[in-house]
Amino acid sequence: MKRAPTVRKSGRVLIRKAKAADKAPILEISKNIWGGHDYLPAVWDDWLADKKGRLIVATVNGRTVGVAHASMQANYVAWLEGVRVHEKYRGFGIAGKLNSALVEWARSRSARVARLCTGSSNQASRNHLQKIGFPVLQTFQRLDITRGLRAKPTGIRTPRRPSNRLWEWLKARPTFTENHAMYSDGWTWYPLTAKTFRQHLTHGHVLVTSKNGQPSSCCIFIDEAKFLTLGFVAGERAEVMKLVRTLRFLMFRMKRERLRVILPSRSSLLRSLDRSGFEKTAKIIVYERFLGQR
Ligand SMILES: CC(C)(COP(=O)(O)OP(=O)(O)OC[C@H]1O[C@@H](n2cnc3c(N)ncnc32)[C@H](O)[C@@H]1OP(=O)(O)O)[C@@H](O)C(=O)NCCC(=O)NCCS
Repeated sequence: MKRAPTVRKSGRVLIRKAKAADKAPILEISKNIWGGHDYLPAVWDDWLADKKGRLIVATVNGRTVGVAHASMQANYVAWLEGVRVHEKYRGFGIAGKLNSALVEWARSRSARVARLCTGSSNQASRNHLQKIGFPVLQTFQRLDITRGLRAKPTGIRTPRRPSNRLWEWLKARPTFTENHAMYSDGWTWYPLTAKTFRQHLTHGHVLVTSKNGQPSSCCIFIDEAKFLTLGFVAGERAEVMKLVRTLRFLMFRMKRERLRVILPSRSSLLRSLDRSGFEKTAKIIVYERFLGQR
């Protein structure tokens, strides 16, 4: 347990591992966040039970007033998420203490970097991250469309076998660098490695077009109950738009409510998507801190 400075003389902030009894006060805090649409109640039990991740709370005078979670992704990357602080205890630096406790945990797990994201309109979160010196890695734009397509574009392949050639081609695209070797499901950014790429291939979640026997575009998509999410895309614009139309066709056939596309916020594809009816729905900032030797 860590001792920390006094919160406006009203009590000390303690950071500790979460326990079952923290659920009620945390869900109470969560009720007032994002108009009651916070995802935390849906994940609390899994986070608490998960031995591989780390769920911590902040207490003041024994009262549970904050929470945060971390887990290890591929390639020694730690993902931090779910920071919530009780309304009455905001502005005292509690989020910063939760964050540094998770960073310490990540270090103890040999993480190379810690990453997290926040909506660009979340000023409190951005202030807190700036204050603790968490550097911005990349800003992403999320675009949505609810209209599917009935016609299936031709010339699209769904390769399922691991392909070193495709992986080498993908890694050499400028968008691979722009994406900082990550893909997203819309909420979390994951390392895009040979292994994670292979997993998406075997699940049939990679679409490819080719020209003259060479890949000309490739995307990874995530299929969830209501959404399809294009979480990474690379290649020539016209070919990429074919992949997007294929996903709109899949969305129609699989009866998903919407297709979301996640792109680096300066992507040249934004205009093409805008013209084909996509709406910009969120700007999300991904942060990354190196966890070198202290
Ligand atoms: C974001 C959050 C976790 C920050 O927690 P915190 O313990 O108050 O963080 P800090 O004490 O370090 O304060 C952060 C900064 O935001 C400021 N701040 C607090 N509420 C704010 C608001 N509504 N709008 C703008 N700034 C705000 C604080 O004054 C402080 O800035 P300052 O040091 O320049 O004064 C907290 O506001 C919260 O729980 N928000 C709702 C959930 C959320 O958005 N979580 C993050 C999801 S990525």
